[in-house]
Amino acid sequence: MAGVLGRRLGFAVAVVVAASGWSLGGADPVIETDENGNLHIHNSPSSVKRILLNGVDVLKEIEELRVICGVDASTTAAPLPPTPTPVVFDGPVHCDLNGVPNNVTHVNGSIIFIGCTGSLASQLQVLQTVARVSGNVEISNNNALQTIDGLDELTWVGGSVVIEYNSALTGVDGLNSLETIGQDLTITLNPKLGDLDGLDQLSSVNDTLNIRVNNGLQNVDGLSRLTKIGGALHISNNAALESIEGLGSLVEVGDTVSVCSNPSLNATIAEIMLDNLGTCQDFSEASCLSC
Ligand SMILES: *[C@@H]1O[C@H](CO)[C@@H](O)[C@H](O)[C@H]1NC(C)=O
Ligand SMILES: *[C@@H]1O[C@H](CO)[C@@H](O)[C@H](O)[C@H]1NC(C)=O
Ligand SMILES: *[C@@H]1O[C@H](CO)[C@@H](O)[C@H](O)[C@H]1NC(C)=O
Ligand SMILES: *[C@@H]1O[C@H](CO)[C@@H](O)[C@H](O)[C@H]1NC(C)=O
Repeated sequence: MAGVLGRRLGFAVAVVVAASGWSLGGADPVIETDENGNLHIHNSPSSVKRILLNGVDVLKEIEELRVICGVDASTTAAPLPPTPTPVVFDGPVHCDLNGVPNNVTHVNGSIIFIGCTGSLASQLQVLQTVARVSGNVEISNNNALQTIDGLDELTWVGGSVVIEYNSALTGVDGLNSLETIGQDLTITLNPKLGDLDGLDQLSSVNDTLNIRVNNGLQNVDGLSRLTKIGGALHISNNAALESIEGLGSLVEVGDTVSVCSNPSLNATIAEIMLDNLGTCQDFSEASCLSC
């Protein structure tokens, strides 16, 4: 009885210590919540690492269960590092990057690079920690821009991604973490863009995907993970486009599918690939007619 009470008191003391922000000799608090509401309990730095819940030594219990279940502890995952504190910047972010701290992780608003003069490529480096943008990412009319390296951590865009009228742009490799786009993805009028190879993590475009008038674009292999387009799919007037095999993972298109006026593309093969998708299909070597 006394033992149980002692253990209960011990647990209560540990909670009080944590709640008042003290640490047990180490740098981190014993118990803390991060900004995402995750609860972290850190082991005591001593060699006896016990976490007691109502007197039950839970780590020991888990270890014993592993033995019973034959799970090799060395193969189980290491504890996750604490989620870093997000650094939120209220956008919009424009060419001058005025006031944007170089550790920003969340842009609340849009990133709008339209007609930026100077070296946008080096400016983009300031954004290399940005993981989420709640608004749009628009990169348009930047005549000197060759790559968009610098957005490598960007995984989620709540609005649209627009890459348009960038006459020197050769690749979109810098978007290689992007997984989800809340609205449209528009890639238009980038004459030197040869492929979409940076977009290989993209799995969902919630609204329309437009790929139009990119005269150097040869394939869309970079979209090989794209499974869902919530709106329409339009691929048109891309003079060099030979293959859309990169869309082979696509299982859902919410609106119309049109693949027209791509003179290097065999429209029959495109049709075979995408025929069961969307609400209306239009495949043609010439202009779109039916949808
Ligand atoms: C981010 O940078 C700003 C300004 O340089 C600094 O005040 C802040 O402490 C940094 N935040 C984190 C979480 O590193
Ligand atoms: C985002 O910005 C808007 C104003 O534009 C503000 O009302 C809102 O609180 C901000 N949200 C976050 C999470 O900072
Ligand atoms: C996707 O689009 C629908 C319809 O416009 C909207 O209701 C939903 O919130 C969007 N989802 C995301 C993740 O943006
Ligand atoms: C397009 O592909 C189909 C099916 O493989 C083939 O029958 C047709 O000849 C091809 N058309 C052209 C113009 O190459």
